Amino acid sequence: MTVTRLDVDDRATLVRRLADARRRTDAMFDVLQPDALYERPIPERHRLIFYLGHVEAFDTNLIARRTFQRAAFHERFDRLFAFGIDPVDGGLPNEPKSEWPSDQDVRDYDRRSRDEVDALLAGGDAPPELATVCEVAIEHRLMHAETLAYLFHQLPHALKRAPAADPPAAGAPPARAAIDIPAGRATLGLARGAGFGWDNEFDAHAVDVPAFRVDAHKVTNGEWLGFVNAGGYRERRLWSDADWTWRESVALEHPAFWGGRAGAWTSHGMFADAPLQLDRPVFVSHAEASAYARWSGGRLPTEAEFHRYAYGAPDGGERAYPWGDAPPSPERGNFDFARWDPTPVGAFPAGRSAFGLDDTLGNGWEWTASVWAPFAGFERFPFYPGYSADFFDGKHFAMKGGSMRTAACMLRRSFRNWFQPHYGYVYAAFRLVRP
Ligand code: AVJ
Ligand code: FE
Repeated sequence: MTVTRLDVDDRATLVRRLADARRRTDAMFDVLQPDALYERPIPERHRLIFYLGHVEAFDTNLIARRTFQRAAFHERFDRLFAFGIDPVDGGLPNEPKSEWPSDQDVRDYDRRSRDEVDALLAGGDAPPELATVCEVAIEHRLMHAETLAYLFHQLPHALKRAPAADPPAAGAPPARAAIDIPAGRATLGLARGAGFGWDNEFDAHAVDVPAFRVDAHKVTNGEWLGFVNAGGYRERRLWSDADWTWRESVALEHPAFWGGRAGAWTSHGMFADAPLQLDRPVFVSHAEASAYARWSGGRLPTEAEFHRYAYGAPDGGERAYPWGDAPPSPERGNFDFARWDPTPVGAFPAGRSAFGLDDTLGNGWEWTASVWAPFAGFERFPFYPGYSADFFDGKHFAMKGGSMRTAACMLRRSFRNWFQPHYGYVYAAFRLVRP
């Protein structure tokens, strides 16, 4: 492999950002009571012990094995912890805890992995892909800081310890309003050479979007209660065939973030439950959001419509962020690990978009009606070919925005997220386009 030098400042920045990201994932595991590591809080996902190894195995596989071509010091763990799982149609994992290594063995592997990666990054030479590969390692780890949060969210509170209470959110939600977005052009994606982006962010391209009307706020728990009370979960005509089959098979009657029962619903917070918080966005699967849209006579926005309402401006311009060009900061929204739980909708007037929409970044991702698919000009990363392409199967949907546990670097306009429609554990909210 050709060896070139990576700029010394760039390298120092990457090393610092990797250290910051490691502190984020370390802090997540500090939340767990010791016996929680072998739990499987979400049936579709691995036991938590997998993630303890995964965030390091990913880095060492990518940086030490692939980029620097170093021989493995623990090939079995490199493979065991290489990739997570995302079963779409049934087939839940059911291996016993005893099949996983001890947490001490995993922590030893983690320490050696970090030392190996750090030594390579401290050396003078750098293969040409190194900067990109480091960005991938950093953002992959930060994505898992969010994944770990929504996994931990489903654990009993007794298995966690709260680091600190959430800071209060200022501002009060204005009255619900629908906002007219005129026809206009949105720029989706990222231009090559314009900075780091994942494979699915390329290429940049313009989309002409017809005029539409959209809610200023994400749908709240209070509104969702109306759907529940109207029998929305039992009403066959509101659900597609596949969504209904799933709803029946798991006997879904309320969001995964709700507890209690009819008449006494609770909001299932990260560290405590509370009487249902009517003014917070509801987090639901794509299937549930679609049923609600049908019930209320609206529809989910397309990915291009999201760009119009979040980044477009009445003068026809486009912004880097909904509020303008300033980088994300705590008064602009509930993101970048600011809190463990959502805030009332509309609590961040300083983060409002040019068209007047609240919470378009943070406080819950927003489901779109757009099937997860590549942009024209898509190319796989040679060092991670399946990252996005494994999910171009027509069975996943694009999500935009971000949650309270989304790192600031992934709040860039071109960042795209996706999930399958029958998975209600993500911090995924939605807002409706109105006729
Ligand atoms: C991009 C959030 C859908 O969590 O499945 C982490 C991110 N991919 N490790 C996921 C991911 C591989 C991915 N999402
Ligand atoms: Fe991963």
